[in-house]
Amino acid sequence: MASDYAPFLERAFSIPPAEDSYAMTPSSGEVPRYLTGTYYLNGPCLFSRSGQTYRHWLDGDGMVTALRFGDGPVHCTHRFVRSSKFVEEEAAGRFLYRAFGTPFEKLKRGLGLESPVNVSVYPFGGKLYAFGEQGLPWEIDPVTLETRGESSMGGRLNAVTPFSAHPKFDPHTGEMFNFGIAYAAAEPLLNVYRFDAQGVLRSRVRHKLEYPCSVHDFGLSPSYTVHYLSPHLLDMAGLMRGGKSLMEAMRWEPESGSRLMILRRDTGELVTAFHLDGKYCLHLINCFESGPLLTVDLLELDEPVYGQYQVIPDLFTDVAEGYPVRMVLDLERRKVVERCELPYRLSPDFATIIPDLFMRRTSDFWMLGISATGRPGRKFFDQLVHGSFESARVDDIFQAPPGVYLGGEPVFLPDPADPHHGSVICQIFDANRTSSAFGLFDPFHVAAGPRVVLPQRHASPPCFHSCWVPMN
Ligand SMILES: [Fe+2]
Repeated sequence: MASDYAPFLERAFSIPPAEDSYAMTPSSGEVPRYLTGTYYLNGPCLFSRSGQTYRHWLDGDGMVTALRFGDGPVHCTHRFVRSSKFVEEEAAGRFLYRAFGTPFEKLKRGLGLESPVNVSVYPFGGKLYAFGEQGLPWEIDPVTLETRGESSMGGRLNAVTPFSAHPKFDPHTGEMFNFGIAYAAAEPLLNVYRFDAQGVLRSRVRHKLEYPCSVHDFGLSPSYTVHYLSPHLLDMAGLMRGGKSLMEAMRWEPESGSRLMILRRDTGELVTAFHLDGKYCLHLINCFESGPLLTVDLLELDEPVYGQYQVIPDLFTDVAEGYPVRMVLDLERRKVVERCELPYRLSPDFATIIPDLFMRRTSDFWMLGISATGRPGRKFFDQLVHGSFESARVDDIFQAPPGVYLGGEPVFLPDPADPHHGSVICQIFDANRTSSAFGLFDPFHVAAGPRVVLPQRHASPPCFHSCWVPMN
């Protein structure tokens, strides 16, 4: 008999959309004076129109939230991305396009999904872009969050270019890297892109894949791109032919095993590929090098998680266990020389690190977890977790009270005077009161709860990815 481990979670997905811009007043604590910059967050925030309701968490239209920290109060702005899909459906007053988990008829150019631009938001080359699961980025105004338009990145990409929501940025060279999967059944391809600091596409390479796998994220180190390919396969012909949602056209084939592909990041050339057990990876944590050794930290799950993002509002009903894992690869001997799974199995996701340590040796990381993992019944993220690979410990855990859920990738906001200290920010949704807030936590003692709470004027659903843009 399934229980309910997420009381009132339906309230998160039925909130009327509210765009606004206003000053925030902390309900507890004081905002640290060292915080000057903007925190951006993107996520699906519109789940129903005219009585139509989306089934899947990835379906909702993207709304970007910005919290501007500096002199005076924190300023909060929420605004939907005016994607082609949003504008057309807004005018029609109903959903038109097939979504990730809901099978409406219309397809983008008859070929694929029209992006709801709801996964992430990142600055690049002096501009700010919102990204969807696969599709071109949309440029938005960094202050007002008004949509400026879809970006072809200087004409180098087009409307059907596969382009993921998880670009990676080298803070030293200013380059942007990204990937995308082309799902043609005859020849599925991994595309890898490298843009210079001016936004010019310097290389695009294609690698044939053994299977048409769904991939969401990748890793970047000083010399390599790292691609964890799981046997979660998309039947593109079935999607086109059968009027199915993307979710219905996917299948899990763990017996086919997973692959870890390592490419040279400057040329895109294949260095080596490792065969792994058939596990699933949605998000990586960090990658770094030492001589011939490449360390890859990531979150591995026993099964894919997208099937657990439905049917709204009953999420994560049978979510599989997952855990942080460190793999050390010897690229000369082409061997996995070390594999260390940390003792936290509560389906973790949305991991983050200290930004200054990106692509460098890291130990500490932060992530969300689901305390009721392993028990049948709907549930949601309700733990903010701080772990350490070097001590192999994951015991600093903030447990949200019953009916309170956490959303959005927690992000580390560094203190410029000591960038390895600062605050971790996380979205908090209180379903008991249908209210939302942001909490600022002590990164090295998250268990104590938020030191600062910044309530929102309007509630918004738990979102996906976020970033911190310090003021120059
Ligand atoms: Fe993601």
